[in-house]
Amino acid sequence: MPGERAALILTERPDWHTPRLVRAIEARGLPCRCVPPHHYGIAVGHTATGLLIPGFEDALPAGVFVRAVGRGSFEQVTLRLGVLHALRDLGVPVHNDARAIERCVDKSMTSFLLDRAGLPTPPALATQEAEPARYVLDHAPDQVLKPLFGAQGRGLQRLDGPDALPDAETVGGVYYLQPFIPPRTEGAWRDRRVFVVGGRAVAAMTRHGRSWITNVHQGAACEAAPADDEPAALAVRAAAAVGARYAGVDLIQDRAGRWLVLEVNSMPAWQGLQRVSAVDIADALAADFVERVGA
Ligand SMILES: Nc1ncnc2c1ncn2[C@@H]1O[C@H](COP(=O)(O)OP(=O)(O)O)[C@@H](O)[C@H]1O
Ligand SMILES: [Mg+2]
Repeated sequence: MPGERAALILTERPDWHTPRLVRAIEARGLPCRCVPPHHYGIAVGHTATGLLIPGFEDALPAGVFVRAVGRGSFEQVTLRLGVLHALRDLGVPVHNDARAIERCVDKSMTSFLLDRAGLPTPPALATQEAEPARYVLDHAPDQVLKPLFGAQGRGLQRLDGPDALPDAETVGGVYYLQPFIPPRTEGAWRDRRVFVVGGRAVAAMTRHGRSWITNVHQGAACEAAPADDEPAALAVRAAAAVGARYAGVDLIQDRAGRWLVLEVNSMPAWQGLQRVSAVDIADALAADFVERVGA
């Protein structure tokens, strides 16, 4: 309906999450339109808003919920993030805002901001040159090498010394290293995922891994965990540290029992978590979003 106030859902394809989210938002009285990332652009002199977003040529969306920015060239992703930045600057509530997405997609910036906020997180090195990486591996040989833009546990490697360092081209020209945090019990690989919405931990789970990489996509088993304990409180602070309105925060416990924040996901999936959680996560996201949008 032209002129109708509607939310924009930025989503690559209608995956498991999107229809649940749309239903929950619409149930709270705000119609949604889903637009895939490759349809976004700038249209100065062509549309009333100066933005090219199908269905929103004449009026800005009431709010934007970002499920995925999508894959693309550097130019495409920059354009999409630019549109999200513009929407925020125009006063549109965006969950999550492009700034938070940028801070989380680059895992080294997350590490930097977590540390700056006084949160416990492993040391982290991001370098474009092999020399600093070799130096770190020489002094602390058990390191995890992660793709700077990684997700779902893909592409992680454990390195046992400088000679294990792969060619820079295989890691997009950036080495991101974190010391390996050994499990508290040998062979019992686990970490914690806390889902934060609007400054509150709404659900959490322990992920029991088949290997040290305990992502659900790597076959980890999910077990419900409390959402009001120490790691949950750290997760709330971690989301705030990167400016994320909602986030999936990964934490790991070291041998001394200390919780460390590993990373913050600004476009987290919640299918695995929903299976072990009594809280309706899509509804928690929708409630926070609609409240902010003021529908
Ligand atoms: N420094 C580390 N020490 C031990 N295990 C780690 C470390 N970093 C990551 N892992 C394991 O690998 C998984 C994936 O790492 P993470 O940083 O969350 O990247 P991704 O974006 O791929 O999920 C974590 O959930 C954890 O199980
Ligand atoms: Mg993770």
